[in-house]
Amino acid sequence: MKIDKDFKIGDIDNRIYGSFIEQLGRAVYGGIYEPGHETADEKGFRQDVMKLVKQLKVPVIRYPGGNFVSGYNWEDGVGPVEQRPRRLELAWKTIETNSFGTNEFVQWAREVNADVMMAVNLGTRGVDEARNLIEYCNHPGGTYWSDLRKSHGYKDPHNIKMWCLGNEMDGPWQIGQKTADEYGRIACETAKVMKWVDPSIELIACGSSFRAMPTFGQWEATVLEHTYEHVDYISLHTYYGNPQNDISNYLARTMDMDQFIRSVIATADYVQTKKGSKKKIHLSFDEWNVWYHSLESDKKMSPWQIAPAQLEDTYNFEDALVVGCMLITLLKHADRVKMACLAQLVNVIAPIMTTTGGPSWCQTIFYPFMHASLYGRGTALLPLVWSPVYDSKDFTDVPYLESAAVYNEELEELTIFAVNRDEKRTLVLECEIREFAGYKAIEHIVLENEDLKAVNSQDKPDQVVPHNNRTVQLDNGLLTAELPKVSWNVIRLKK
Ligand code: AHR
Repeated sequence: MKIDKDFKIGDIDNRIYGSFIEQLGRAVYGGIYEPGHETADEKGFRQDVMKLVKQLKVPVIRYPGGNFVSGYNWEDGVGPVEQRPRRLELAWKTIETNSFGTNEFVQWAREVNADVMMAVNLGTRGVDEARNLIEYCNHPGGTYWSDLRKSHGYKDPHNIKMWCLGNEMDGPWQIGQKTADEYGRIACETAKVMKWVDPSIELIACGSSFRAMPTFGQWEATVLEHTYEHVDYISLHTYYGNPQNDISNYLARTMDMDQFIRSVIATADYVQTKKGSKKKIHLSFDEWNVWYHSLESDKKMSPWQIAPAQLEDTYNFEDALVVGCMLITLLKHADRVKMACLAQLVNVIAPIMTTTGGPSWCQTIFYPFMHASLYGRGTALLPLVWSPVYDSKDFTDVPYLESAAVYNEELEELTIFAVNRDEKRTLVLECEIREFAGYKAIEHIVLENEDLKAVNSQDKPDQVVPHNNRTVQLDNGLLTAELPKVSWNVIRLKK
């Protein structure tokens, strides 16, 4: 590798280290909120979970969905708890008690030092509901909805700045699925009105639910044709898995993610050209993760339970490597991907797990996410990489070395994130960093494991944890380090 201060991709928007809490499964109930739990405070917020969330330094958290939002009446979740209705929740076939809602979430997010990315329901509802919700959340007072918020005990406005215009509206599984034209029109009108209520907000239009959707590309183009001047971001979602147990192909999946991002940038810029607009649309990768372990068991779950254990993937070591590669892919596009949300945060396809009434612990994927969030702030540099490559079932010329470099000028730190995809061999990294005179290696964090399927659990929470390696050498501007076979590496240098 060769890293130069002047080879810049772009400034990293810290919001790429966002996450997501959906009103689904045990994310809220038994996850972040469990009155009566031994660590819960007077609001019912689990302090053990808060402590872990804070370790991730998540700057923004999306809420309340996901698929959930497309059938949600936000009014059900505010005001006196005993008066809130129980409803059939059709997205996940459960019963929603509504004992937790918008105000509780805003309060919780504030306590974990995160901003809120709120989604409005464009499935069963539309402009009217969205304008009321934003008036409730952001207007200071003196109107029906803002005074209602005050009467609920929230004197100051929540000032929520990021808003999603619906969720995955192209998907047949979505409550109120729409064609691109139908969605584009309602998203445009909703955006217009929401910005009239609060011009300081930023809006995210729904892109395709994933790259393999039959309408991918055309969907983005049509939606942006309708909304271009009214929205700020277009969303991307993707989940990967290894159901065929093919590690070399699984680790190469981020080649798909990279191409996905490039295609959405190209489409957004095509619409910009057509419109002759000065404005650039940025990307919000607001759902990304590994998700496949729980799919089969979830199909067998009986409907209409309250907070069942849905989407509870137990992540293994190889999943952590894929999450590491996904983080690196986001960094490689730091100039256009300005927000991203690891989906999700607690219990539901999550880095943090809990037992209802019991302890909490970190899944394997917790670690690469935490490292990137802590050390991946500053400027993304474009490293020149010469790596041996391999072919897998679906991909050709996959580099064994997947890497990104981040320069934090203020702290005078340089961090190299690297995954060695090679199953059998250590990769000796040689990296030219002559530009960084006076920098010393302070740490080489490694996540490695002999067993690709090793997991952390309530009983054994420390099966897969990072450790420090001592192989980094720095000689006359040339750094060398050993990257163990199939490993996640964080090499930190400081002046
Ligand atoms: O994150 C789980 C689900 O995945 C979300 O509700 C939905 O948006 C996506 O399909």
